[in-house]
Amino acid sequence: MKEFTNRVAVITGGASGLGRAMAWRFAREGMKIVLADIEQTTLDATLKEFQDSGHEAIAVQCDVSRAADVEALAEQTLAAFGAVHVVCNNAGVAPGGLVWEHTVKDWEWAMGPNVWGVIHGVRVFTPILLKQNTEGHIVNTASVAGLLSLPGMALYCVTKHAVVTLTECLHHDLVEHSDKVRCSVLCPAYVPTRIAESERNRPAHLRDDRPKSEQDLRREEGLRHAVESGRISADQVADAVFDAIRDERFYILTHQRIKPAIETRMQDILLERLPTNTLKR
Ligand SMILES: NC(=O)c1ccc[n+]([C@@H]2O[C@H](COP(=O)([O-])OP(=O)(O)OC[C@H]3O[C@@H](n4cnc5c(N)ncnc54)[C@H](O)[C@@H]3O)[C@@H](O)[C@H]2O)c1
Repeated sequence: MKEFTNRVAVITGGASGLGRAMAWRFAREGMKIVLADIEQTTLDATLKEFQDSGHEAIAVQCDVSRAADVEALAEQTLAAFGAVHVVCNNAGVAPGGLVWEHTVKDWEWAMGPNVWGVIHGVRVFTPILLKQNTEGHIVNTASVAGLLSLPGMALYCVTKHAVVTLTECLHHDLVEHSDKVRCSVLCPAYVPTRIAESERNRPAHLRDDRPKSEQDLRREEGLRHAVESGRISADQVADAVFDAIRDERFYILTHQRIKPAIETRMQDILLERLPTNTLKR
């Protein structure tokens, strides 16, 4: 995509963290912004910042795991701005734990925003982008957890692997059907955001009454620490996303030092050996 001024960007999970940083990056290019998020108070505060800075923006409260909410998001975007050019399916949550200890509610909660949110975003927005017949780009936020298999992170890894392959398949389908619409998959490692506090947005009906074990609490503390000590900022990730859209790059790997771990996993598969715990290397 080469033209950004007055084009329209929709960003899910846009109230906080990576989504918010992407929205600012796009706004600085003169784009009109649609912030979508489940968290109303943060959404209102973020929208106010954009409007106070003179940017054209709207906010849509939306649970991306719900088909009807994402359909309404597209309708409100078109009603406000008449078109959509960049769609970032970015909203997500990051639960951790041992794979056999997760409850059905844990799985349903994580699959909601992380997988269904991306499915709905692609399902609803791609036909609109194709029909417009103008340049467009979809960015799906996965994670390096979509390229690795890590201990204590099965739920997260399963959902993020799904996003990687969904986006790779989307790329193939787009190339066969359009020369104007493209996509990218964003795979960062740790970036300081509020992702370690994902439980804050867990819907009441998917909350778990299971008391947290010592091990759960230690794991949560470990995640919080890892996220806080991430050396690449949300703004740097947003720059990488913008560059990838402009330069038509598919894989957005923001943390170069993680690449040997990805290579090790690929080698494990090709050499048919036991999976390496790349966290221990
Ligand atoms: N921060 C990291 O270290 C990191 C690394 C790799 C990938 N990611 C991914 O980046 C994306 C953004 O996360 P972040 O790090 O900015 O965290 P964050 O918690 O700061 O932002 C996530 C946003 O998603 C929103 N959200 C959660 N569930 C939602 C739902 N059902 N519908 C709509 N909005 C919902 C939250 O309210 C929040 O504003 C996620 O997909 C996450 O998995 C983050």
